[in-house]
Amino acid sequence: MDVLEAIKGRRSIRAFKSDDVPTEIVKKLIDAARWAPSAGNIQPWEFIIVRKPEIRRRLVEAALGQTFIEEATVVIVVCANEARSSQGYGVRGKTLYCIQDTAAAIQNIQLAAYSFGLGTCWVGAFREEEAKETLKIPHGIRPVAIIPVGYPAETPPPRSRRPISQIVHYETF
Ligand SMILES: Cc1cc2nc3c(=O)[nH]c(=O)nc-3n(C[C@H](O)[C@H](O)[C@H](O)COP(=O)(O)O)c2cc1C
Repeated sequence: MDVLEAIKGRRSIRAFKSDDVPTEIVKKLIDAARWAPSAGNIQPWEFIIVRKPEIRRRLVEAALGQTFIEEATVVIVVCANEARSSQGYGVRGKTLYCIQDTAAAIQNIQLAAYSFGLGTCWVGAFREEEAKETLKIPHGIRPVAIIPVGYPAETPPPRSRRPISQIVHYETF
């Protein structure tokens, strides 16, 4: 699929069919994620693949009741390894680069999923400590996004975007 077609065609999907997502496809999503750019090529990302209904249900709770998370048969939780980034880049690595790097990986997952006919939603609204406890995430690793992955059961229209004239600044802000 053409890159621009994927960028413009992807939507946040919040309703999923019950069909299983094959492990081979999940592996391809992770492979796409790890080809994202990262500061100093430190690759501070970690991925937790969740299929167990009980854990998915607890993720719904951590995510303030966003029930579509458990509708998807697979959930990928993308985490930032702060320790890894801070070893290379100190405070800037820990507070900025590791979040930027994982965000790029998340975007890759979403675009690759779309190219395979899958829907995803970047869920960022969740109680972090609760998610960490549920997923047994160690100290120094931050869950950044919960991404339900599944076959879409809806075709939402595009959300509006701010016009180019409003967001571009020439020469100075
Ligand atoms: C950092 C971040 C956090 C988000 N958190 C949530 C969320 O908790 N729940 C949700 O339904 N969508 C969430 N979204 C998805 C946005 O609502 C969505 O991307 C935006 O409305 C644009 O729609 P589109 O993705 O269909 O283009 C999040 C997106 C980002 C980038």
